Amino acid sequence: MKFDFSEITVMLDKDGFIDEAIPKGLNLVEEINRLKKEKNAVILGHYYIEAELQDISDFVGDSLALAQEAARTEADIIVFVGVHFMAETAKIINPSKKVILPDLKAGCSLAESAPIDEFRKFKANYPHHKVISYINCTADLKTETDIVCTSSNAVEIVNSFPKDEKLIFGPDKNLGNYINSLTGRNMVLWNGACMVHEEYSVEKIVDLMDAHPDAEMIAHPECETPVLLLAKHIGSTASLLKYVQVSDAQKFIVATESGILHQMKKACPGKIFIPAPSNDSTCACNDCSYMKLNSMRKLYICLKNELPEVSLSDEVIEKAKLPIERMLAIS
Ligand code: 13P
Ligand code: SF4
Repeated sequence: MKFDFSEITVMLDKDGFIDEAIPKGLNLVEEINRLKKEKNAVILGHYYIEAELQDISDFVGDSLALAQEAARTEADIIVFVGVHFMAETAKIINPSKKVILPDLKAGCSLAESAPIDEFRKFKANYPHHKVISYINCTADLKTETDIVCTSSNAVEIVNSFPKDEKLIFGPDKNLGNYINSLTGRNMVLWNGACMVHEEYSVEKIVDLMDAHPDAEMIAHPECETPVLLLAKHIGSTASLLKYVQVSDAQKFIVATESGILHQMKKACPGKIFIPAPSNDSTCACNDCSYMKLNSMRKLYICLKNELPEVSLSDEVIEKAKLPIERMLAIS
């Protein structure tokens, strides 16, 4: 697919990003800041993106904080440096604004684990159940949802239903199991998981804890139960970041995507952060390959061309808006 911008022809790469030659030596930080101002754009970045992208973002946060920020921004353009479902959420909240994402292929294994047709069939088996969806899902799935939650507010959202309400929770079975254990509910769980958080090795974490008895192990609730059982603190990325600041410990083993270490090191320069090891020591399994599709170069090209843009049908926006607004009203 080609776009002709008269002076320069750019390509929407088959992989989902706009590509063009950029002058050698171009100061990307300066250019991104200039374009941002010129176009009244805001850059929203998740904690899992590369450090330099976090540093150039106007706002860095967890999924809840980013959705809240998207709801209150007055910018004309939202540049979402994160993954596709986050940009979709920003678009649903702001249908009249332009929402762009440096690489459309920045997906999410959790969102992909719940194709809409299969989810509809699953839901049909439970006609009397309400649906709570983790925000890490497609806009289509949100249209089949009563209320959205994030890892920051999942307990609050679940507890907003009467004790005897029948509930479906998806797509993350690990978060669902954890919330069931905290709330005493028996929610029916969709069988999805995050490819990063499922990769942690219990054996290797135990070895690491033995080698560093002074370290506190902290984990994201997308991790499997055996990993969570080892953790001193479990929470969303924002919660983990807060915890390392208030804890007296000087050393932490961190079981979530390694991008968060950038903010942890910035907030606590004297403390030591060790990424929790994964089963396969030959891969960068602690990195979300989707989040890492974002780069300074792609961000610059995206902002310059205002492409690729996230677009959704009016029908999807209308239906998906309600469960997101319900969440934002409670959080
Ligand atoms: P939070 O930042 O909301 O904890 O979510 C983690 C995550 O996996 C985002 O994709
Ligand atoms: Fe999705 Fe997991 Fe990547 Fe988060 S870390 S975007 S849940 S694949």
